[in-house]
Amino acid sequence: MMTTQQAPAIQVRGLEKSYKELRVLRGVDLTVARGSIFALLGSNGAGKTTAVKILSTLLRADAGTARVNGFDVATQAADVRESISLTGQFAAVDEILTGRENLVLVARLRHLENPGKVADDLLDRFSLTDAGGRKASTYSGGMRRRLDIAMSLVGNPPVIFLDEPTTGLDPQARIEVWQTVKELAARGTTVLLTTQYLDEAEQLADRIAILHEGRIIVDGTLAELKRLLPPAKVEYVEKQPTLEEIFLALVGADGGKAHDRNIGTDA
Ligand SMILES: Nc1ncnc2c1ncn2[C@@H]1O[C@H](COP(=O)(O)OP(=O)(O)OP(=O)(O)O)[C@@H](O)[C@H]1O
Ligand SMILES: [Mg+2]
Repeated sequence: MMTTQQAPAIQVRGLEKSYKELRVLRGVDLTVARGSIFALLGSNGAGKTTAVKILSTLLRADAGTARVNGFDVATQAADVRESISLTGQFAAVDEILTGRENLVLVARLRHLENPGKVADDLLDRFSLTDAGGRKASTYSGGMRRRLDIAMSLVGNPPVIFLDEPTTGLDPQARIEVWQTVKELAARGTTVLLTTQYLDEAEQLADRIAILHEGRIIVDGTLAELKRLLPPAKVEYVEKQPTLEEIFLALVGADGGKAHDRNIGTDA
């Protein structure tokens, strides 16, 4: 018998979903190993959020099966919900509350003992201790995202879904979120994230799948995906010299000394 512990964190087979005439998912298969980071790539409207909503039991599939943490999303929805958290495409932070109050609120909603300690531990882990007493409305985009992800970790769910975690963030804030996600996986949490950024998948993911026209058209490690492309070609490109190169050509790479030395050597 396959126990919950041995099963992959996420297993999806033949998943289908339509909105009226619009066939968004047309037979999606994917497997996510425990403790790994899996990136689901796709252009706008490909169905990434739809897939995440089905896996997090917010939406019912028309056909196919999906198991999360060993539980069937259709028949064991409550067990799935206990096993996951979802950080949506738009932050769920309450702006009026402080960072700490946001975390305490979630810990209370999840019926955890000692919500204050849970909040303080997460603030510490996400480098938000100093900002913990400030209203979330005063946070930068990156801090808000980190708080949002921290909120989704209350109660230590083994599987977390991040729907476009860095959309709209500046490069520095994106790097902060990437660091956070890497730390999560290092602690054994399984992360399924959706993104439109290829570099994000490249930075983070153990495995990358591309959702296109309702199906997974590619699924593999970065190295495997790179092998699908034709080998790199060497091209000769006419390059305008930089001012530095012009300068060095005019005065000589070592300020004209080579010229003097050459004369000396020739003599
Ligand atoms: N509730 C709904 N009713 C009707 N159509 C919907 C609904 N939700 C999504 N769609 C449509 O389904 C398609 C897939 O949407 P989805 O949000 O899953 O895409 P996505 O890959 O997450 O896109 P994005 O990158 O823009 O977030 C889109 O064409 C969208 O307009
Ligand atoms: Mg989406």
